[in-house]
Amino acid sequence: LTAEGVPLHVLIVEDSETDTELLLHHLKREGFKPVHTRVDTAETLKDALKRSTWDIVVSDYEIPGFDGLSALSIVRKASVDLPFIILSGAVGEEAAVEIMRLGAQDFITKGNTARLVPAINRELSKTKLRSERRRANRLARRLETEKLVVARMKEIDQLKDHFVEAVTHELRTPMTPLMSAIELILDGDTKNLTPQQTKLLEMMQRNVKRLSSFSADIFLLSRIHRGYQTLYPQILSLRETGIPIVRLFKQKAEEKNISISVDIPSEIRVFADAVALTQIITNLLNNAIVHTREGTEMTIGAKAADGNLVQVFVSDDGEGIPQESIGNVFDRFYQVNRKSGPGYRGIGLGLSVCKALTQKMGGDITVESQQGKGTTFRFTLPDESAAGLEHTSVSEVPEKTREKGSQVEIGHE
Ligand SMILES: Nc1ncnc2c1ncn2[C@@H]1O[C@H](COP(=O)(O)OP(=O)(O)O)[C@@H](O)[C@H]1O
Ligand SMILES: [Mg+2]
Repeated sequence: LTAEGVPLHVLIVEDSETDTELLLHHLKREGFKPVHTRVDTAETLKDALKRSTWDIVVSDYEIPGFDGLSALSIVRKASVDLPFIILSGAVGEEAAVEIMRLGAQDFITKGNTARLVPAINRELSKTKLRSERRRANRLARRLETEKLVVARMKEIDQLKDHFVEAVTHELRTPMTPLMSAIELILDGDTKNLTPQQTKLLEMMQRNVKRLSSFSADIFLLSRIHRGYQTLYPQILSLRETGIPIVRLFKQKAEEKNISISVDIPSEIRVFADAVALTQIITNLLNNAIVHTREGTEMTIGAKAADGNLVQVFVSDDGEGIPQESIGNVFDRFYQVNRKSGPGYRGIGLGLSVCKALTQKMGGDITVESQQGKGTTFRFTLPDESAAGLEHTSVSEVPEKTREKGSQVEIGHE
């Protein structure tokens, strides 16, 4: 350790070269590896302070043409923190008191050098402590500011979501009577309608549906984001939930000559909100059918997974997703830059809704895709064992509230 030594940048204010050598020798013997500069005038002292950073100043008290007190005041002007120790021949008590009062850290007589190294060590650790405290304070202040910024951003975010929610709510309200009215005319006595009028009404119906599902998606996403969306998980048979949804795609599938196979073991149960689960499966099947090629096959399947989860997958042999887009497909409004299929006009919300809902229910969703080969979406949901853990489960919610709740809050085909 002595050969190595603790590096010590020591600025020595001293006229005697011999005393300097003695001091350096002493420091080395005590385990330091001193790097020093010796000065004996105000100018050379100022210069040395400017040139490098020092751990400590050791100064004589009486120097011809200079003195310890002036040296101290120069050092204090340059740095409040740099420890200053007087190492001097015998001086009167009054002078010693005065020099300590002016901010020297210690006063040691040359005959009592045994005190020097402990004093240096003490001052070094004090300096270190001070600088650490300063750093901690700086950090604390920064954290405080960051906290304020985050809180403010959250507030703005909430305001935005609140606004979006209010707007989409207003948009949705007239949609239901509009939809019913169009349906009523179309399903009624169409003899009174010209083919042109029927066509126009059907166009209206498509657009109202699109607008309605758009505002429902946005409404739902904002509410989940704000933490307001309440879901009502219950134990569901995945097969019994899935098959009726698959049936709804029968016509679309036949149009493209696609077969949909269902590979869901009948014993698989999930603990999930029925409306949300339906929406996730619907969105994924809809995407698959839109993006797959004619005459291919798609599958919806499920199996038990680790961690009391059930994994559900929807896969197709379609066009796939380009590698560079795969990280973005779950983002709001993200659509792969590609021409839409006939009659297909998505908005880019389906997958973000799937992600928000699966995560809200304690699962997650991932995608794997190869361009030109096909795509598989996999999502997880808690299995039935989660039912025991959750005390606000469906059984405790009055049936009426629940119906109303799920209609108002998700109410989305
Ligand atoms: N099964 C799939 N095969 C290929 N691309 C898909 C598939 N599912 C989703 N995508 C891509 O991800 C994008 C986002 O999907 P989504 O959020 O459902 O929005 P939308 O269907 O309204 O465009 C789609 O635009 C599409 O390009
Ligand atoms: Mg979609």
